[in-house]
Amino acid sequence: MEIFIDSADPKEIIRWMSCGIADGVTTNPSVMLKDKVFDLEDGSKGIARWIHPRPLSVEVTTDDLEEMLAQSRRFASWAPNIVIKIPQENQYGLPCYGVMSQLEKEGIKVNATAAMSFGQVILSAKANASYISIFWGRVGDEGGNPSQVISDSVKWLEHWKYRSRIIVGSIRCVADVLQAANAGAHIITIPPQFIAKMADHNCTRATVAQFMGDAQKALEQMKGLEESATPKVLAKTVQARA
Ligand code: E4P
Repeated sequence: MEIFIDSADPKEIIRWMSCGIADGVTTNPSVMLKDKVFDLEDGSKGIARWIHPRPLSVEVTTDDLEEMLAQSRRFASWAPNIVIKIPQENQYGLPCYGVMSQLEKEGIKVNATAAMSFGQVILSAKANASYISIFWGRVGDEGGNPSQVISDSVKWLEHWKYRSRIIVGSIRCVADVLQAANAGAHIITIPPQFIAKMADHNCTRATVAQFMGDAQKALEQMKGLEESATPKVLAKTVQARA
């Protein structure tokens, strides 16, 4: 399973990338705004460069399907590792699978985003999207069972040998990450604050504190032994010389 960073914050991306934890980065217009990336081209080029060759997902910002294609081609020209996020449908309910299929034909990788149902996953896979993003938190908000959507999707993709890989996004807490992992997610994209939380356990900190304390005590004991041994050694040396 891979871990992506759901953020446009350079400090966090570099932090987790350099630990070997992060296999890619996902963004959307809201993530960009939150992390103060107002210039999409400049910001995306920067992130794509730091994380290369790992993938960076950048989302289209139009409802018009022709414009989506044009935007996607432009965004993809910014860096070889940019993946284009195309929603399942636009905000008026117009399906975007034709855009996904056309981009993949042109060799531009697609992340079919904002998937909330197994049905949408099937259609995105048929449209040959490289990645399909299921939104864990938002599925749950509507009373759905995100774990079921993920396991149904992963089983179906494997059974029919589709190449699409499931990314689970919309993570709201560490438990979401663990449940998504158990449901069979190929990739989970995690906001950085939850990776830090996953790393931390008060019992781990207490254990390390105990070991540090005992290592310090051992050093003090050793110093004490050396000091008490020194006069004997000196006496032996004096005897030997006499
Ligand atoms: C990731 O690809 C998604 O865009 C993101 O995780 C959505 O998260 P949200 O539902 O918290 O906005």
